[in-house]
Amino acid sequence: TSKLMTAKLKKGFFISLEGIEGTGKTTQARLLSERLIEEGYEVILTQEPGGTVIGNRIREILLHVDHREMSYMAELLLYNAARAQHLSEKILPALNQGKVVITDRFTDSTVAYQGYGRGIDIQLIMSINDIATEGIKPHLTILFDLDVETGLQRNKGINKVDRLELEDIEFHKKVREGYLKIAEAETGRIKIVDASLSFEIVAQKVWEIVRWRLEK
Ligand code: TMP
Repeated sequence: TSKLMTAKLKKGFFISLEGIEGTGKTTQARLLSERLIEEGYEVILTQEPGGTVIGNRIREILLHVDHREMSYMAELLLYNAARAQHLSEKILPALNQGKVVITDRFTDSTVAYQGYGRGIDIQLIMSINDIATEGIKPHLTILFDLDVETGLQRNKGINKVDRLELEDIEFHKKVREGYLKIAEAETGRIKIVDASLSFEIVAQKVWEIVRWRLEK
């Protein structure tokens, strides 16, 4: 099926946005989708964990602050359960219709958080990710890079707390370093944007990258 899926995927364009907490990627996802719509593209804006009714139920389980006893393996599999549903119910149908799909987080989040953050073996995570996605990868990934202190500070400003945000600063530092390693290994797919800049400048940089990739 993997080959068939890859062939189908060629119709649409698949973008994932990644980064630690507080980088502004959710705002950037919205700005990018508005820009693409202005340019005449059909766009689906979605997020992980979530994007579907089932996915959102799994999201609640994953992020609930009472679920501190969740094992790392249960966490890894739940993110991927939500992802499998997201892919089959939303992402693949949209790509098959030739749409641009923008997802706020995808498989690199799992490598960064569960792999580099929690310390689960990276190869194991990649193979579980592959099972959930049937090997499908984004055409383009934008990594919003920001130092951890600034990110967590920005998040405090919007008063958002979930289970992963209860983790200490060292965890988030490992996640950020992990993201940078992931990007280093896949420079073709992953482009890094400095998220410490103003949101207008960040939006402009994102648009330059996306336009260049869509024209290619
Ligand atoms: P959000 O705050 O960007 O909506 O993401 C929810 C949290 O889930 C965030 O702390 C990152 C985390 N996460 C993982 O740990 N692994 C994953 O695979 C995904 C998609 C998210």
